[in-house]
Amino acid sequence: MELNQQQINSYHENGFLIIRNFFSRNDVAALMGRMGQIIEELEPSQFSIFSTKEQTRTSDQYFLESGDKIRFFFEKDAFDEHGQLTTKKQYAVNKVGHALHDLEDTFQQITYKSGVTNIAYALGMQKPTIIQSQYIFKHAKIGGYVAPHTDSTFLYTEPLSCLGIWIALHDATKENGCLWAIPGAHKKYPLQKRFIRNAKNDGTVFIDIDKERVKWKLADLVPLEVKSGDAILLHGSNVHMSYENRSDMPRNAYVLHLIDQACHYPANNWLQRDLPLKTLT
Ligand code: FE2
Repeated sequence: MELNQQQINSYHENGFLIIRNFFSRNDVAALMGRMGQIIEELEPSQFSIFSTKEQTRTSDQYFLESGDKIRFFFEKDAFDEHGQLTTKKQYAVNKVGHALHDLEDTFQQITYKSGVTNIAYALGMQKPTIIQSQYIFKHAKIGGYVAPHTDSTFLYTEPLSCLGIWIALHDATKENGCLWAIPGAHKKYPLQKRFIRNAKNDGTVFIDIDKERVKWKLADLVPLEVKSGDAILLHGSNVHMSYENRSDMPRNAYVLHLIDQACHYPANNWLQRDLPLKTLT
């Protein structure tokens, strides 16, 4: 998989780029099948409620330690006051993260054999690594709203280097909650916030890094409808979001985030790993 110059220019212009058929049908089926097994085997004895509304994340240890593990984050209303699941576990999980690509064989094989390395170098990274992977469910009738945000808020480097690769496992449409993005937002708006560990290192907090900040013009958001297997590259400063899935169709996605190890990665970024990072070569 090679990006041509037109694609590279388009990425730099818009801050996003759609790549058709990034994963084969077989790879999509293998990832979804394996995740189905993982959820089947899951004992929901330990959990962290993950709310996508208003960018909040639970700040407990389970989340903070998830950077180099495979952990499960549930829909906000998945458990009742007694901690019992309110729905089948298959519909209760919101996402799985953040090191599937390093710890789970099927995910590892498919991730590293994909075009991710070529993309990273074509877009100018010097020492690229995949720092995070997430399997995101957006269940039919359940999947929630994800507020507009930039990924460099969560994976900050100096200088900025975060690159998202959002791979559709189902067809993603306006009906089932596709991504929406603002073309050119990465050139127009400086990074506004960082999501960091708090001073006590037992929770997380957003801090402002752009005091003068210009309000994002959300009317400029455009839908990025894609087919199963297609990928959307997202610049770390691109502003994007997704609506609730009110349809009868699920909208699963596998999302990778890369950073350039040639850049500084602060020790107070929320995501820290003991597991060494692998440089893409
Ligand atoms: Fe994002």
